[in-house]
Amino acid sequence: MTPEWWRTAAIYQIYPRSFADANGDGMGDLAGITSRLGALQELGIDAIWLSPFYTSPQRDAGYDVADYRDVDPLFGTLADFDAMVAESHARGIRVIVDLVPNHSSDAHVWFQAALAAAPGSAERARYLFRDGRGDDGSEAPNNWKSVFGGPAWTRVLEADGTPGQWYLHLFDSSQPDFDWTNEEVRDEFRDILRFWLDRGVDGFRVDVAHGMVKAEGLPDYTPPAEGGSMGGAGGLTTDAAASGAPLEPGISDEHGGSAPYWAQDGVHEIYRDWRLLLDEYPGERVLAAEAWVDPLSRVAKWVRPDEMHQAFNFAYLETPWNAAALRRVIDDSLDAFAAVGAPSTWVLSNHDVVRHATRLSVTEANPQGHGLGPRSKGLPSFEAGLRRARAATALMLALPGSAYIYQGEELGLPEVIDLPDGARQDPTWFRTAGERYGRDGCRVPLPWESSAPSYGFGPADASWLPQPEQWASLARDVQRGDPASTLSLYRDALALRRERRLGAGAVEWLPGQPESVVAFRNGDIVVIANTGDAPVELPAGEVLLSSEPLDGRVLPADTTAWLAA
Ligand code: GLC
Repeated sequence: MTPEWWRTAAIYQIYPRSFADANGDGMGDLAGITSRLGALQELGIDAIWLSPFYTSPQRDAGYDVADYRDVDPLFGTLADFDAMVAESHARGIRVIVDLVPNHSSDAHVWFQAALAAAPGSAERARYLFRDGRGDDGSEAPNNWKSVFGGPAWTRVLEADGTPGQWYLHLFDSSQPDFDWTNEEVRDEFRDILRFWLDRGVDGFRVDVAHGMVKAEGLPDYTPPAEGGSMGGAGGLTTDAAASGAPLEPGISDEHGGSAPYWAQDGVHEIYRDWRLLLDEYPGERVLAAEAWVDPLSRVAKWVRPDEMHQAFNFAYLETPWNAAALRRVIDDSLDAFAAVGAPSTWVLSNHDVVRHATRLSVTEANPQGHGLGPRSKGLPSFEAGLRRARAATALMLALPGSAYIYQGEELGLPEVIDLPDGARQDPTWFRTAGERYGRDGCRVPLPWESSAPSYGFGPADASWLPQPEQWASLARDVQRGDPASTLSLYRDALALRRERRLGAGAVEWLPGQPESVVAFRNGDIVVIANTGDAPVELPAGEVLLSSEPLDGRVLPADTTAWLAA
């Protein structure tokens, strides 16, 4: 095994609900994952990260956990989990699971006990219960908003039936936030970490890793003036933020850095503690932070040598398809993470954002989390979106560090725009009364076989979100034998990346290139991406890979090539 595998790993995100359904109930499951691991081995990834499969009422697709030490019957059993880990390991694939420590489900026994107990009790002290403001306590304790829309506080009825205290939920009202100043909460999560480490997991992706500690006294939040500070605008690229440039599409004011509930210093103490715990285990177990914070120099705090191993690079994800912006964010990422001795990570899609086969070509502002639907404007054609996405992926997979791939992007899946209203399930959709579409469009179950029921997602025709007819032409079996397919592009790029050790390399910018081009050398490979409208001349060297067919020594618009040089 390569030392410190996570520094260069290609990590594939499985969204269990939508990956593969073994029992035909329309919901993906662990046995489905096990049965399809061969396809991932063939793709050439090093590890999988699974979004939550724990016991949950599924109000936020499993990010509302009722029992952190069990598998939801929707997804199978602990025995299915063990079988999935064993099979992954046998195929040389590591397994990272999702840990959701900021909040539990309201169905968690602790929260149920808190509701039944009195204000001021030890049961309530595991969460953030507070008295309301105003004479009768009928106003929320502060002005914080839920990321999913609406207030971040919900008032409870006390045991005698009268309106009582309020509890904090940065997300849905079914997701009460834990009080991380409480030692009992800390102990519980140490124990949960051990539970999964003992079962053989290789690490954890830590959900909302920037949110667990809140500013003392839970003060009101005064957002920074629009477009000025980067504090309140999560997902701003570092440079756009620093220069006060206009907001780019994809920006949200919900995942920012200056709010009294994001990026508080106290969170780092928790990760130092967890790091020591992980280090007791053999085999380089890892922690990866979901921390929507900017600028990147601040994200780097999560991956200091005694904290986590990786942090998602959301600045990269939110960078538009623009050469100057891409060069800047690549430089910033490499600098920021190198400054603390961590690898950079790269990511273009996940279960929370519009798929990059659509997103990179959308021309109207589309804040993160708002999603796309029938009313959205500025949408690309499927072909134009896919072309750009393939170029963006070929660029990303050539960068040094660790790359994340979200299930379905290797098939070139676009965002599903035309989900019927009645099918939508994201709490964002409900909490904003349909004003925001939310994230369902990137979560539609995968197509495996073009002519099978549910396109091979499961043995039956059931699918928890309806699959578009287009899935027939994008199914894995159609793409597998086609050297021009998106699947082949991913497989070829991942193989070359591994063979040429690009993950362990460095970026050396190629001088004298047109402004619309991102061009660099990584080891013995030259990478060139054309983000402009006009074709550009290819540098010298044999073409090893290109995101579109090439005609002579010319690189067309929205195309990336790798050359041996
Ligand atoms: C993270 C997850 C997202 C979830 C939220 C609340 O942002 O990625 O899917 O809704 O946390 O747990």
